[in-house]
Amino acid sequence: MKRIYFDNNATTPLDPEVRQAMAPYLNERFGNPSSGHRFGEEALAALAVGRQQVAGLLNCSPERILFTSGGTESNNTAIWSAVFAVPAKKHIVSSVVEHPSVLKPLEFLQQRFGYSVELLPVDRDGGLDLAQLDAALRPDTALVSLMGANNESGVVWPLAEIGEICRERGVLFHSDAVQLAGKSPLDLEVLPVDYLALGAHKLHGPKGMGALYVRRTAPLTPLIMGAGQEMARRAGTENVAGTAGFGKACEVAARVMNAGETNLPGLRDMLQERILADIDGVIVNGASQPRLPNTLNVSFENCASGAMVQELDERNIAVSAHSACHSGDLDPSHVLRAMAVPETHIHGTLRISLSRFNTAEEVDVLCRVLPGIVAKSRQGMTL
Ligand SMILES: Cc1ncc(COP(=O)(O)O)c(C=O)c1O
Repeated sequence: MKRIYFDNNATTPLDPEVRQAMAPYLNERFGNPSSGHRFGEEALAALAVGRQQVAGLLNCSPERILFTSGGTESNNTAIWSAVFAVPAKKHIVSSVVEHPSVLKPLEFLQQRFGYSVELLPVDRDGGLDLAQLDAALRPDTALVSLMGANNESGVVWPLAEIGEICRERGVLFHSDAVQLAGKSPLDLEVLPVDYLALGAHKLHGPKGMGALYVRRTAPLTPLIMGAGQEMARRAGTENVAGTAGFGKACEVAARVMNAGETNLPGLRDMLQERILADIDGVIVNGASQPRLPNTLNVSFENCASGAMVQELDERNIAVSAHSACHSGDLDPSHVLRAMAVPETHIHGTLRISLSRFNTAEEVDVLCRVLPGIVAKSRQGMTL
């Protein structure tokens, strides 16, 4: 039986066009971009094309793109660069719902180097209060790091407004756009963002590949030092096939968005409406906020998400639970806690994240099995 994949915020399937673009660099064009012969030249040319394609998705110039091993490294590089630039500035503003690839380095800076890290709260629907951001900024604020879209709730934050506030106050602004890129247009000609992090595997590209956009005026300290690759901004022989694939993934994402070809958010809305119509005791998290077109985060009253994920998996449907399992206890995520999802619902949360490769038929299959799975989970909770 065909498996249905609804966990695209975790990772996405490789687009066949991307696989095709990568293939030569995993086969006959295996050269090192730093080599002086034609093998090297072919590889170097692939890096240039990839950089152009990634820049195309962001509407920025290609030299502003630094290739990395993924979103995590991009976020770390941005944070390090901003804090190393002005060591006297020891204050950082971020939010409680950031990805661990932002929260962990901030925690490290706080614990090891005495930085003061202020994490802004979110409201019940994952929204941010921009007045609170404004009030949090200080003369010694080295960086504001706020994500473009949340990986769990799908809630999208107003990067233009946030960037304006930061610019007015002369503070560097980094945004983790790993979930946003490719799902919503981004124009860095107009967006006042200093650092923007991307990851290839969230937009049908390969894993282990990402990029950091660095504005011309923003400081950059290499996180990985060695030889002079990436214009001496990130050492190590380049991931040529990964770059070719990432570039192609960005090109396709831009094409699909520009042509309005995407079946999202129609499918997500259809799914949401069916769930609300067929099942009672449901909360759609983030419903009042702008959301990623592919993401539905729902909490089912008096349910256990771990068991529901298992039941769905047995029926060949992959979704995510939001929850990490610690010694048998379901532990709701920091994002759901920050959004104050009621205790009656928080343990029964599912993240259902679609992609352009999903179909209405697949959504229908999920809608047909879900009421029974919810009912079974509720029975299990009352036994
Ligand atoms: C919002 C967000 N930031 C960063 C990352 C990390 O990206 P990568 O897996 O490419 O290191 C992810 C991936 O889960 C993410 O969802």
